[in-house]
Amino acid sequence: MDNIAGSPVEGDNFYGREKVVSHLREILANDDILLLGPRRIGKTSTARAVMAAVRNEGWRAIEINVASCTNEREFLDKLEAALTPELASFSEKAKSAIGDAFGKVSGRIKSVEIAGSVSVKLGNGEAEDWTKVASDVLHLIAHADERWLIYVDELPIMLFNVIRNDPQNGVLRVRRFLDWFRNDVRALPDVRKVRWLVSGSVGLDTLVQEHGMADTINSMSHQGLAAYSDDVAIAMLAELATSYNIELSDEEARHIVAAVQWPQPYYLQMAFHHLRVLMAEHPDDDPPSLIEQAMDIMVQPGADNDFHHWEKRLTIQLSKADADHALTLLNLAARDPIGVRAEALLAKLQERMSNATPDEAKRTFIRLRDILLRDAYWWAEETSGVKRYRFRLEPLRRWWLRRDTL
Ligand SMILES: Nc1ncnc2c1ncn2[C@@H]1O[C@H](COP(=O)(O)OP(=O)(O)OP(=O)(O)O)[C@@H](O)[C@H]1O
Ligand SMILES: [Mg+2]
Repeated sequence: MDNIAGSPVEGDNFYGREKVVSHLREILANDDILLLGPRRIGKTSTARAVMAAVRNEGWRAIEINVASCTNEREFLDKLEAALTPELASFSEKAKSAIGDAFGKVSGRIKSVEIAGSVSVKLGNGEAEDWTKVASDVLHLIAHADERWLIYVDELPIMLFNVIRNDPQNGVLRVRRFLDWFRNDVRALPDVRKVRWLVSGSVGLDTLVQEHGMADTINSMSHQGLAAYSDDVAIAMLAELATSYNIELSDEEARHIVAAVQWPQPYYLQMAFHHLRVLMAEHPDDDPPSLIEQAMDIMVQPGADNDFHHWEKRLTIQLSKADADHALTLLNLAARDPIGVRAEALLAKLQERMSNATPDEAKRTFIRLRDILLRDAYWWAEETSGVKRYRFRLEPLRRWWLRRDTL
């Protein structure tokens, strides 16, 4: 097994989530999936494993990453670019069934322009809703007597791009996009043949809630990626150690898992990577001290790119005031590895919201608390009858504390 910390992993490097893949595979029999989670949690690797699984059963599966798309037309371009090679490999029978219809539709994609707001214009000046073109594409591929999985990665980023680039109509266009997804796509006669797996790392759920369009994504099955159990995490570290001829005792592996606290594969890979480098540099040092050093390196400038995203994500998806409140709450929670009492956090927020009534401050606290719970920043610990909000990922807490310390 390779020690990969960054790019999506495939094949033998995809460790310990086989059951997750078969669960997602089962869901796809009847539903589309919305797979949301923080950066680096393994969304793309898992989605690709699902694609491989359905291909084994004869489905066609394509992947589009729409992070760079700023409008609907670019989304269609991506879809076309991914579909074209697939259609080229169709059997003659399927091709003749489709005729040259795809050529016609893709010609329309090329001539679609974003005309200011929701409507799009064809090259010849005739107005046509882009959703019509998009639905025609789907209708065509569904004709081909095969099942399809369309994996759309980073959809929330595209939707945030649309809103940012079109302050006047952006929200409306996002609603139209999501409505198209929910209504028009569902209404296609062959809809059962085309399944969607949509994933992303900035809160689509926050976006739709803030703009009152939660209904648009409710038809999808919402899924996340839980951390490994301690046993799986330890077994993965053991497997990595074997691959790199490193002696790592069960106890040492357990130590790493305890230091990470939230054993998501990426952070185990990172910790292992730094440990491996340190062991080569200081072969005589004792492993526990090297493990501590490895954890420390993870949060130092230069090695800490991924943690910045946790901070940035708040400002992307929340209003300025909410993002600042959330940062303050997290700054406070980061001060103690076992977390900070709910009352102390609320008091801090009340201090910041001096013009708000206690009720308003409490409501804001609860709303932000829930977002931070859902997005895996912290969890509520209630042992000993006291409720504390505590960082899930210990390296993130350390990083948070460091960035809030002179
Ligand atoms: N099943 C797995 N087995 C081993 N390592 C994994 C697995 N899934 C994820 N990883 C680790 O996490 C890293 C990121 O994986 P991946 O790119 O799939 O995550 P992501 O959620 O799509 O990230 P991003 O939000 O940056 O797109 C990998 O480089 C690897 O270190
Ligand atoms: Mg990804």
